[in-house]
Order: sequence, then structure tokens, then C-alpha cells
Amino acid sequence: MNTLAKLRLHDLAPEQDDFLGAVLDGLGRPHKTLPCKFFYDETGSTLFDAICDQPEYYPTRTELGILAAAASEIADLAGRGGALVEYGSGSSLKTRLLLDALVPAIYMPIDISREHMLAACHTLAQDYPALHLMAVCADYTRPFRLPPTAPQNRRLAFFPGSSIGNFAPLEALRFLKQVAQQLSGGDGLLIGVDLKKDPAVLNAAYNDAAGVTAAFNLNLLTRCNRELDADFDLDGFAHRAFYNAAAGRVEMHLESQREQTVTVAGHVFTFTAGERIHTENSYKYAITEFQQLATQAGFTSARCWFDDTKHFSVHLFRRN
Ligand code: AVJ
Repeated sequence: MNTLAKLRLHDLAPEQDDFLGAVLDGLGRPHKTLPCKFFYDETGSTLFDAICDQPEYYPTRTELGILAAAASEIADLAGRGGALVEYGSGSSLKTRLLLDALVPAIYMPIDISREHMLAACHTLAQDYPALHLMAVCADYTRPFRLPPTAPQNRRLAFFPGSSIGNFAPLEALRFLKQVAQQLSGGDGLLIGVDLKKDPAVLNAAYNDAAGVTAAFNLNLLTRCNRELDADFDLDGFAHRAFYNAAAGRVEMHLESQREQTVTVAGHVFTFTAGERIHTENSYKYAITEFQQLATQAGFTSARCWFDDTKHFSVHLFRRN
């Protein structure tokens, strides 16, 4: 039997992001910002993969270690043979680890990038011939309906990588409420959450010695130059990343190294020396802090795993 027969695309035709509109809006503000979702063009995605391999960037390998150690317990608690619903496209080792442990009947990735998701699904279809793949093309930051699955297929929602950290706490709450709506009572949510810790560890993770995170941050300006007819001087901006303890987040910025003007699609923006463009927030949570957030969204904590340095956590919640 053709493995492709096991793959179905549910295309919810998500609205394409307006990059130019977002850049003009963000740079027009008194405190300049650019949304972090635009990091991930082809170069940005490659740079992000390289970040995950940096010795200072502990989240990816720590989460993978936690999942590997907890996999059979996760399967015992969440149940085998149901539907694994991943928010984001699962090309990663983490997805395979869960597919091996849970042996779900259905794998349902949700991603805005149709091509990237379908490519990942084709590879999975070959390696997991019994698996039914239901690819959902949607923007999961906005409300949408999941395609129906047979009621006997209990769902486990999976949101790895501390991607939740890019949301401000109130947005994170709204997102968790949406996930709760997309699940039924008794279904599970498995979510990776980066922990609050010694700021020196956090600062190192976002300022790797090889400069990969700096290249990732600056690539946003390269992307503006290429796609939006902008003239950012890459040497005129420097990568800045630091833990803001009061806000409980790592912030990334691009700092203007001198007074300068930049043109984007005919619109002129002026920068003072030292002025910053805020490009990303990465929120960190104490274990109980995140459990409180999930509780407010309609979940009950089933179990929480973490590594022995307490750098990273993986929570399993049950939808009420
Ligand atoms: C993909 C959002 C989890 O916040 O650690 C890594 C992105 N930015 N290094 C994170 C990122 C700089 C990453 N997340």
C-alpha cells in the first residue's frame, strides 16, 4: 500500500503574515520592535537548528533527555494508541521519541508552513507505515477548529521546545485555553517549559561564543533588506540578549551602533546611537508558576519532569 494514502492535509488556509506591515508598524513605534515570528525564513530556520547544537543552549538537548527518560511513563499516564496532536511541525527527534513510546493511531501536526510540514510528514510516513497522518495547515496563534477524530482516540496535545515562552503570560493563558477547547475532558497536554534559573546560565544560552544566536538575530535585518527593499547596514547593529528578572524573561534586541537612518520600502526610520529594536521575549517559569497558569486554563497537573540541574521542565496536564 502506498504510504501517501495515510497522509491527509486539512488546509485551513491561514492568512499569510504581512511582513512589510509588521516591520513598518514595529519600527514606527517609540520603542522599536520586530515580531520574532519573522526569524524563521530558510536561513533563520537553519540558524535556529545550529543554536540548538551550541554547548551554551541547553533547552533542546535537556528537553530531549527528559522526554527519553520519561517516555514510557508518559505513555502509561496519557494512554497509548490515541491521537498525538503537535502544535508546530514535528520534524524533530522529540516527535519520533513520542511516536515510538505512544504508538498513536493518528499523528496530527499543526503548522502554518504547509511545505515544511508536508515534507516532514512524508518522511514520517515512510518510517511509521501504520501511522495515520492528519496534517493541519493553520496559524495556531489564532482560533481554529481541529478536524474530528474518532472519539476512542484520546488526544495528547504536544507543545515542545518552550515555544510557549514567546508568548507573554496573558497570551500564553489564551493559547492554553484554546488548546483546552480543542481537547475533550480527560485528554492530555504535554508541554516543555524552560525554567527560571541562574541568570548567568540564561545569558550564556542567548549569547553563545560561536555567535550563532547573534547571526540568528541579525538575520532579521538581512531578511528585511532582501524581501522589503530595506537598507539596514548589518555592521551598524549589534546583538544584545539578557535576562530581565523583573519580567521573568530573556530579551533579545538589535542595538544601533551609531546615529543612523534606515529606509524600508521608501519609509525612513532614524536611530540614535544605542537605540534598540526589541526582537524577542523568551519567558521562563517556575514549575508552580506554570502549573497555576495551566490550572487557570482548565487543566489539572498530572506529572512534571525535570533534569537534575532543574534547567528545563516537561509538564503533563489533564484537561478537566
Ligand atoms: C524557539 C522560542 C523556544 O526562546 O529559546 C533561541 C528561540 N531565540 N535563541 C527560545 C530562541 C534565541 C527559542 N524558542
